Amino acid sequence: MKYSNIFDSHAHYDDKSFDEDREQLLVELPNLGVSRVLNCGADLASSCKAAALAKKYPYFYAAAGIHPEEAHDLPADWEEQLKALLAQPKMVAVGEIGLDYHFEENPPHEVQRDVFEKQILLANEMNLPIIVHDRDAHGDTMELLKKHRPRGVVHCFSGSVEMAKEVLRLGMYIGLGGAVTFKNARVPVEVAKMVPADRLLLETDCPYMAPVPFRGKRNDSSLIAYTAERIAEIREEDTQELIFKAHRNACRLFLGSEEAE
Ligand code: NI
Repeated sequence: MKYSNIFDSHAHYDDKSFDEDREQLLVELPNLGVSRVLNCGADLASSCKAAALAKKYPYFYAAAGIHPEEAHDLPADWEEQLKALLAQPKMVAVGEIGLDYHFEENPPHEVQRDVFEKQILLANEMNLPIIVHDRDAHGDTMELLKKHRPRGVVHCFSGSVEMAKEVLRLGMYIGLGGAVTFKNARVPVEVAKMVPADRLLLETDCPYMAPVPFRGKRNDSSLIAYTAERIAEIREEDTQELIFKAHRNACRLFLGSEEAE
């Protein structure tokens, strides 16, 4: 094991690409330096699966939320269902939620905004942080964050340095993953350089976003080592030290404690 205390702040182990070897992989991850995983939901069904994973694996935590791409055809009582899920043990955040204006076939913007805003309000009411997905929707995302001032993280941060400064001013965290290692990464590199050490979270977004040299392959939490090495190189820091700091940050945000183990 090269590093220890990896906290993967954003994973999707309920995804079907893990169906073949999920158990094997999740038993093995702690031996590869992974000490905590936060599994995010994307709709009610996957949020239930996230909750089940958190119950099964001691090092797992879960978030429940409706992803913007799933913000259509919701049952009338979706907010009550979500609230009930979030009341279960080891549910530490509302996510992933947000806005995705990338594909035309995504739900209409006003539907996405409505579902996002309701979940921010729910998080504030339950005193939980949120995990924000923002793709090509920076303006509207910032508007809602400024309006309601939730705690939380903007995951897989893809905005500009200017936007990063605004997110930080709101007291929120910035999540960085495999995209930092991509050859054409320019803005993520600038962001990785400027984020204060106490506001940076490491994440995979697995099974997606595998870092170089595994780009395009299935991602898992152990590969955070590669992302962390690249970020440490950009910041001229020690990799293990960076992993420790990101671990502390995630504990502070999601678990309400600074403990590093
Ligand atoms: Ni995700």
